[in-house]
Amino acid sequence: MRIFDTTVQLLKRTVRDHFLEYFRTSPIMVFSPGRINLIGEHTDYNKGYVLPAAIDMGIVMAIQKSMEPLCTATAIDISETFSFELGQLSPIPKGGWQNYIMGVISEIQKKGIKTPPFNVVFGGSIPPGAGLSSSAALENALVFSLNELFQLGFSKMEMILISQAAENNFAGVQCGIMDQYASMFGQKDAALFLDCNSLQSEVIPIQNDEFTLLLLDTKVKHSLADTAYNERRDVCYKVAQQLGLASLRDLDLQTLLENSGQFSENTFQKALFVLEENARVLDAVTALRNNDLRAFGTLLFKSHTGLQHQYKVSCEELDFLVDMARDSEDVLGARMMGGGFGGCTLNLVKKNKVDSFVKLVIEKYTTRFNHSIASYQVSLAEGTRLIP
Ligand code: GLA
Repeated sequence: MRIFDTTVQLLKRTVRDHFLEYFRTSPIMVFSPGRINLIGEHTDYNKGYVLPAAIDMGIVMAIQKSMEPLCTATAIDISETFSFELGQLSPIPKGGWQNYIMGVISEIQKKGIKTPPFNVVFGGSIPPGAGLSSSAALENALVFSLNELFQLGFSKMEMILISQAAENNFAGVQCGIMDQYASMFGQKDAALFLDCNSLQSEVIPIQNDEFTLLLLDTKVKHSLADTAYNERRDVCYKVAQQLGLASLRDLDLQTLLENSGQFSENTFQKALFVLEENARVLDAVTALRNNDLRAFGTLLFKSHTGLQHQYKVSCEELDFLVDMARDSEDVLGARMMGGGFGGCTLNLVKKNKVDSFVKLVIEKYTTRFNHSIASYQVSLAEGTRLIP
């Protein structure tokens, strides 16, 4: 708790000081967190189940109206500033954070809302490329800030749909709703059991004295990630469409088996994975409610096996880390997390063995891949909010 407060307070001061120095007006301050996902990977865009949580790493944003006709946005971590006109927004090819900013504004404009110009400064504590959804945190930070600044009257649900559409239409990633949902609605010391069809969620408390959640960051992000993500999404849509269903959420095992002849083995396995992963989320929620961490851990390993061999979104580095977790008696479960092809693994590790496990993994991983990993112990935190 204290670490979290200190980090946010420090970031807040840096971001606010920068804003005051450049714009000389007092800004509204917002914090928006990144997320982890306990289980339920590649199920969100299939209208299935997920179990994510907001974390104590995120983005601090300062915003205020501009006296100039242009808007200015500054990412202080990378010292980049970008000025734009509200009437002229279009995605920058292969653009970075600027597309998330413009994407959110563009989605707000599509609702017939025109805001006056504004200035925004932000900085973050989410390690880049780790798959902890810094993009969702940024989108949510901006839509939330604009909602406050101009009193737009959006509900949190409307805001996350704007964030998701921004990512789909401006960043070109056809992501589901999980990241934006978790970042906006996160709860302290809890995960959200989210039904991506109804967008209803239930709070599942996550607290244990003996075990902790440890992230191991491969420090790689293979370049095919975004393309492969959109391709997976396409395969799932096509299977559902071919079977006359709105989404794979409506598919049951019997129907898939009866129709397996219509699909290549590859496609069949992907659809099967989605059905199995949905079932694993339900089982995981039961295990957590029963405080059965062994059962929960086993589901994590199974999820990874499916992501590796059926859905094919893992990579050598992630598999290596999960294999090391399997070999350790101090780890109950582990799996790759997020879209795949890099980023982090999530590990359920005995609290008093974290240091020795990390030390061993760093040694072996560095020997194998010639670069090191990073490790993070995260706390589960509240969603997007104003910072007083
Ligand atoms: C990315 C997307 C999410 C989700 C995960 C995979 O994080 O942004 O919507 O699809 O991948 O579960």
